Amino acid sequence: MARLPILTAPDRRLLQKSLPVACVDQKIRRLMDDMLETMYAAPGIGLAAPQVGVLKQVIVVDVGTAEDRQAHAPLFLANPTVVRAEGTQLWKEGCLSVPDQMADVTRAAIIEVHALDRDNQPFQLEATELLAVCLQHEIDHLHGTLFIDHLSRLKRSIILQKLKKAKEEK
Ligand code: NI
Repeated sequence: MARLPILTAPDRRLLQKSLPVACVDQKIRRLMDDMLETMYAAPGIGLAAPQVGVLKQVIVVDVGTAEDRQAHAPLFLANPTVVRAEGTQLWKEGCLSVPDQMADVTRAAIIEVHALDRDNQPFQLEATELLAVCLQHEIDHLHGTLFIDHLSRLKRSIILQKLKKAKEEK
């Protein structure tokens, strides 16, 4: 496994739409494993392929790491689709591609997701609370949407200014 560099906003590649994978083959499994290692090292609870510059519909998630008592429970999803969404919840979100910034985002409270797993098998998953938030956040990445795109224009532009400045100072 290898750690991959994570793109940070503003970066045009984070705004592009990712393509579905035809099949979860050895190459995609390798990508998934590298993404998981990259996510754990960051550390983060979710990562989408476009964040490492790969415009494929692949995400990895592990909210177990956010809750001390739970063991690691990685989820690998290719071509994830939200087929049902109900209710709303507000959660303070951050993103490895939007470093050091957090903001409240409104998301669906309960979602059902269909996807392919690491063995190319179709599966469905119902999620609530943090897992639902994380999945919606990562699936957004596959459509070129960042959590700051859910904020008011003012809040979004303040955060983008900060990010630009931070990049210039590097
Ligand atoms: Ni993110």
